[in-house]
Amino acid sequence: MLRGNKIGLRARHEDDIPVLRTELYDDVVNSSRAEAGPWRPVAPGSDDPRLVVNDTDERSVRFSVVELEGGTLIGTATLWGIDNHNRIAHIGLGLLPSSRGKGYGTDVVATLCHYGFVVRGLHRLQIETLADNTAMLRSAEHNGFVREGVLRSSAWVMGEFMDEVLLGLLVRDWKKRIGVDG
Ligand SMILES: CC(C)(COP(=O)(O)OP(=O)(O)OC[C@H]1O[C@@H](n2cnc3c(N)ncnc32)[C@H](O)[C@@H]1OP(=O)(O)O)[C@@H](O)C(=O)NCCC(=O)NCCS
Repeated sequence: MLRGNKIGLRARHEDDIPVLRTELYDDVVNSSRAEAGPWRPVAPGSDDPRLVVNDTDERSVRFSVVELEGGTLIGTATLWGIDNHNRIAHIGLGLLPSSRGKGYGTDVVATLCHYGFVVRGLHRLQIETLADNTAMLRSAEHNGFVREGVLRSSAWVMGEFMDEVLLGLLVRDWKKRIGVDG
């Protein structure tokens, strides 16, 4: 398990799946805002790749997020679009509603940076989020991500086009921030 200050990133367990399905992916508004595609209901027993991890997919790594104290499941975190030639990947996360706004998101981003830069040897991490997602923007910026551009009207969300913000972090800047040489 990867450990942050308050959260851990561990493998998906069978009993995480119904909780994530009902509390995260059954939420039409949250799913429409967080996913690139349209919301659809997820049936119990479905092998939806967001829930059932495919270990042979080399381009993404899916974690369940737990509280370090007690081990309660609080969400999901993903390193996706892993490109080992350009050494780039994207970060995604979603916390259960009761676990938002407590500083966990910032800690999840920090822990994913450690995984991406140290464990995987990546050079650049990237996040795309809706321009009004203050909690995601701040979780990223608290970890040194820089706003690199606005993707105008790039996301169809619940009846309207919305802008997305593209944020990036380079390993050299991350190392300076956390005080590691190199
Ligand atoms: C986005 C998300 C991961 C952020 O995690 P979080 O634990 O809620 O965020 P934190 O508690 O670490 O807060 C980070 C910052 O955002 C601010 N913030 C938190 N919730 C907020 C809200 N609802 N509105 C405005 N600001 C908010 C916090 O005050 C903090 O800023 P500060 O330290 O400068 O005060 C989480 O809210 C979530 O899962 N949301 C739904 C799914 C989603 O949007 N995923 C991202 C898709 S790209």
